[in-house]
Amino acid sequence: MENQSLPEDQLLETERLILRPLQMGDAAGLLGLYAMPEVTEFTDIPTMKEEAQALRWIEQLNAMRSAGQGLRWGVFDRESGDLIGTCGFHHWDQSRRRAEVSYDLSPRYWGQGYMREALQAVLRYGFEQMRLHRIEALVDPRDTRSQNLLYGLGFKLEGVLRDHDFIKDRFQDDMVFALLEGEWKKQA
Ligand SMILES: CC(C)(COP(=O)(O)OP(=O)(O)OC[C@H]1O[C@@H](n2cnc3c(N)ncnc32)[C@H](O)[C@@H]1OP(=O)(O)O)[C@@H](O)C(=O)NCCC(=O)NCCS
Repeated sequence: MENQSLPEDQLLETERLILRPLQMGDAAGLLGLYAMPEVTEFTDIPTMKEEAQALRWIEQLNAMRSAGQGLRWGVFDRESGDLIGTCGFHHWDQSRRRAEVSYDLSPRYWGQGYMREALQAVLRYGFEQMRLHRIEALVDPRDTRSQNLLYGLGFKLEGVLRDHDFIKDRFQDDMVFALLEGEWKKQA
C-alpha cells in the first residue's frame, strides 16, 4: 500500500503553545535544546555541539516527513516565540495504522504541564488526521517524568523489552506504553 501524504497544514495551536514542523532557521534554537545532556540522556538524539548537527537533524526530519514515515513538530512558547521542545511521530507504519510518539522539553519548562498540553494536540492529530489506531512510546525505566506524562495521558504499560535499545554507549531496557484509538476516544 502506498504511503498517504499528510495535509499541508500541520500547524497546531494550544493555549500556551504553537507547534509547527521544524525549518532550517530553527537550527540555532534546536542546538540550544540538544546541547543539554539532561534533554538527550534517555534518547537516541546525540548531545549536540555544533549547529551543523542540528541542521542535519532537521534535514532528516524533513526526509522522514516526505517519506510518510513520521512527523515531528517544534514546540514554541506562544508568548516569547522561543523553541522550547519538540515532539511527534516516527516509525509510522501506515498499513498497520500505528506510530511511535516521542518528545523533549527544555528543563526550564519542566513541571508546568507544557508537554502534556503539546501531546494532547499531537495525539488528536495522530488519531484524526493520520488515522492511527495505536500510538506507542518506548521509555527508559529511569525516565520517570516521561512515564508519568504517558500515564497521565491514558497510556498503558504493556511490558519491558530487555536490552532493546543501545543509547549513549550502553544497552538499555525499554518500557512499552501504548494508547489505542478507542481508549483515547473514551477520554476525549
Ligand atoms: C519527558 C518530559 C518532556 C516530561 O516533562 P514534564 O515537564 O515532567 O511533563 P509535563 O509537561 O507533562 O508536566 C507535568 C508536570 O507539570 C505539573 N503541572 C503544572 N501545571 C500543570 C498544568 N497546567 N497541567 C498539567 N500539569 C501541570 C504536573 O504536576 C507535573 O509535575 P510533577 O512532575 O512535578 O508532578 C521531560 O522530562 C523531558 O524533556 N525529558 C528529556 C527528554 C526525554 O527523556 N524524553 C522522553 C523520551 S521517550
